[in-house]
Amino acid sequence: MHSIFRNLTQNIEFTGDLKQDIQLFLSTHNCTKTAEHCMDVGAEARRLALIYEADPDAAEIAGWLHDISIVFPNNQRIAVSRELQIEILPEEEIFPMIIHQKLSKVMARDIFKITDTEILDAVGCHTTLRAHSTLLDQVVFVADKIAWDQPGEPPYIQELNRSLTISLTHGAFSYIDF
Ligand SMILES: [Fe+2]
Ligand SMILES: [Fe+2]
Repeated sequence: MHSIFRNLTQNIEFTGDLKQDIQLFLSTHNCTKTAEHCMDVGAEARRLALIYEADPDAAEIAGWLHDISIVFPNNQRIAVSRELQIEILPEEEIFPMIIHQKLSKVMARDIFKITDTEILDAVGCHTTLRAHSTLLDQVVFVADKIAWDQPGEPPYIQELNRSLTISLTHGAFSYIDF
């Protein structure tokens, strides 16, 4: 494990229960709000997966993990990504918030030992989505927008819900359009 991750986990006694360990990891780093958000997105992703016939267990796990890189403050994310040899796009350099999806993916793999590439990829594109996105990518992307991390109702929610009655892809597009 990279020393950056070893430092983040050395004082944590993991239980072996993934859901509990993600909550433990986030609360240890004073990110209880994000822990709640991740659990909410996991539940929402499971709900959407059952409707749109994606793998509900994979969707839930990707939801739990999607924002674990919140433990790195925004102004450290580019440096940490470079240290971890993550490819950094010019857009990410300008707007580092969006690189947290790639950081979460690497952390899911290296800290939480996730090997399912579908789960890792869905975590890795949950903010921007990607060309040729999979059903699971779209489930996690939309779940994160429905169970958003801010107070109150998302301003796009009515349009998003209306689009979801047509298809999951329409739902994902309505958010991108917003
Ligand atoms: Fe995120
Ligand atoms: Fe999120």
